[in-house]
Amino acid sequence: MYKILNKQNLNQYITLLEVYAPFIAKKAKPGQFIIFRVDEKGERVPLTIADFDREKGSITIIFQVVGRSTELLANLDVGDYILDFVGPLGIPTHLDGVKKVAVVGGGVGCAIAYPQAKALFNSGASVDVIAGFRNKDIVILEEEFNAVSSRLFICTDDGSYKEKGLVTDVLKRLIDEGNDYDLVIAIGPIPMMKYVSLTTKPYGIKTIVSLNPIMIDGTGMCGGCRVKVDQETKFACVDGPDFDGHVVDFDELMMRNSTYKKQEMLDKKHNCRLVGGIQNA
Ligand SMILES: Cc1cc2nc3c(=O)[nH]c(=O)nc-3n(C[C@H](O)[C@H](O)[C@H](O)COP(=O)(O)OP(=O)(O)OC[C@H]3O[C@@H](n4cnc5c(N)ncnc54)[C@H](O)[C@@H]3O)c2cc1C
Ligand code: FES
Repeated sequence: MYKILNKQNLNQYITLLEVYAPFIAKKAKPGQFIIFRVDEKGERVPLTIADFDREKGSITIIFQVVGRSTELLANLDVGDYILDFVGPLGIPTHLDGVKKVAVVGGGVGCAIAYPQAKALFNSGASVDVIAGFRNKDIVILEEEFNAVSSRLFICTDDGSYKEKGLVTDVLKRLIDEGNDYDLVIAIGPIPMMKYVSLTTKPYGIKTIVSLNPIMIDGTGMCGGCRVKVDQETKFACVDGPDFDGHVVDFDELMMRNSTYKKQEMLDKKHNCRLVGGIQNA
């Protein structure tokens, strides 16, 4: 059982939980993830390790409520327990030797990109962070990114905060201004990672993306998380979740991730005992 030490609602949809998990905190590295199960009936759900504190023995996860499991998790409070919390899983991001990097985050993907930005900044690299959101109300981690970046560029789709536009617009401008990045790390919705990779490809800038296929066991045994990378089949849980964005088949990943859309929608329906009827019908 894993106790919740701290909880913050970062915005209407995104929650931060700090969980007491000393064995995971001891080994965790940027780019790795955990798989949790809220209770004995829960499904296994992967979430990135957004931060860790080895001394306190805690792991921070930041997640968006999209369906049943993330909703159950967001409803827990400080002092409550999570039944299973397994990790660290996945291969840590290769950050050795990186001198000038652009870390690009989209929405909740910013939480996943934060540990990479922090590790690179602390290693002395020049770190430009480009964080994109739909609008002002859902901007997260501004203060945290300010503390671990050389320059922070925030953009919103509707222009309600900082720069109006997409992360790819800002990234292209920075590259065209002569910023010779030796690495771009892009984490966010699949289309965003696809278009960041398409932006950097003509310039030949190495680009790492963190893939989010449906995962079940997280050990390379079930095959659920298979992705096509450079025409080869890889398992994101053990071969990733980081991959070279220039050779990922994003369209296949999008198709596979929508396999259970109908079941997920049905799962969200429930009989409301207060007012009767089915919600989300
Ligand atoms: C390595 C990895 C790291 C991730 N890190 C984060 C994170 O830090 N923060 C965050 O908000 N989200 C993260 N995700 C996505 C998160 O796992 C899904 O949002 C979550 O599983 C949704 O579960 P649900 O029951 O609430 O929603 P559901 O209604 O079951 O599903 C909603 C959508 O979530 C995705 N999903 C569902 N089940 C899984 C599963 N077992 N594995 C992967 N995706 C699934 C599918 O795209 C699905 O369409 C990560 C995914 C992976 C693979
Ligand atoms: S989640 Fe089962 S093989 Fe990756």
